[in-house]
Amino acid sequence: MTRPSATTAPAPKSSPSPSASASTGRSWTADQMPPQHGRRVVITGANSGIGFEAALELARHGAAIILPARSEAKAADAIRRIRAAVPAADLTPALLDLASLDSVRAFAAMVEERFPGPSLDLLINNAGVMALPRREITEDGYERQFATNVLGPFALTALLFPRLKPIAGTRIVTLSSIAAHGGKIAFDNLQGERAYSPLNGAYTQSKLADLIFALELQRRLGAAGSPIASLAAHPGIAVTNLQANLKGIYKLLGPLLMPLIGHSARQGALPELFAATAPEALAGGYYGPNGIREIKGDPAPAKLPPASTDCALASRLWTTAEQLTGIRFDVGG
Ligand SMILES: NC(=O)c1ccc[n+]([C@@H]2O[C@H](COP(=O)([O-])OP(=O)(O)OC[C@H]3O[C@@H](n4cnc5c(N)ncnc54)[C@H](OP(=O)(O)O)[C@@H]3O)[C@@H](O)[C@H]2O)c1
Repeated sequence: MTRPSATTAPAPKSSPSPSASASTGRSWTADQMPPQHGRRVVITGANSGIGFEAALELARHGAAIILPARSEAKAADAIRRIRAAVPAADLTPALLDLASLDSVRAFAAMVEERFPGPSLDLLINNAGVMALPRREITEDGYERQFATNVLGPFALTALLFPRLKPIAGTRIVTLSSIAAHGGKIAFDNLQGERAYSPLNGAYTQSKLADLIFALELQRRLGAAGSPIASLAAHPGIAVTNLQANLKGIYKLLGPLLMPLIGHSARQGALPELFAATAPEALAGGYYGPNGIREIKGDPAPAKLPPASTDCALASRLWTTAEQLTGIRFDVGG
């Protein structure tokens, strides 16, 4: 393992199995993040919620950040807010709609043109959407939550993979959720084509798929002898814009209960920041808050849903994502 230095985040320790997470031992705050100077980061969904808080902390610690959003105005606004706190921040605005494979391709092409060669140290697949009330179909013909939360990040990771530095310390972090525990990968209803359930169906499936993807990616990186590490994180329950689509009782009680039950976006960003930068984080590790039911608290190893470690399921999902995106993702070359 490389030592922490001013320019290189320490490589995550290798985990013999994805479930073999180490205890962090003490509470971790963003103040403990190693210096990020010289590191270039792509973080999706950084104009809002926990992604914004994560980008802010990474900028505070010296990282150069490529900050894609769904509109120029959203990217510019996030950059303005980060610069208000970190005037010297190195921030590159960009456009990205994860629900459009053309947009993902265009973003990856922009990164290749502006930052050629292996130029990235960290990719955080943070963006997501939850509980769209009606089944929406994207321009590519896929259900929007599956497209945004699963196919887009899969395609983005595959297309940016050649841009990731093949050195110890390079990390890919993917956001899952405690909702993954209620998820099921329904290959006969992947797009909600037979039955569409916004939250306990489409969303929980997508977040389980994110976790499966992160763990399978680490297995493949390990098998290929790659020094790049894949990790996963979840924020517990954090008050953000994610809950905007909730309906019924959730919508009524959400604004009252969420701040009581959950924690702030700033606190919710810590598990992904821990996975992205902490020397103690393990390759193949999964991190979330350490409180009751992992709803809030300090970053710590999170409980894996049994389905997330099913290798046959993971392999089938990977192949399905390759077929649906038309992008072959071979980490070996
Ligand atoms: N908050 C929680 O309690 C919670 C719990 C478990 C997991 N998570 C996960 O945490 C991550 C961040 O969510 P958050 O809570 O911070 O919610 P948020 O405030 O709504 O932020 C979500 C971000 O994702 C972006 N996004 C949505 N659809 C996109 C698309 N098609 N293309 C590109 N970007 C898109 C949003 O952009 P716009 O501003 O344009 O919409 C926004 O920047 C998500 O993956 C979510 O599933 C959150």
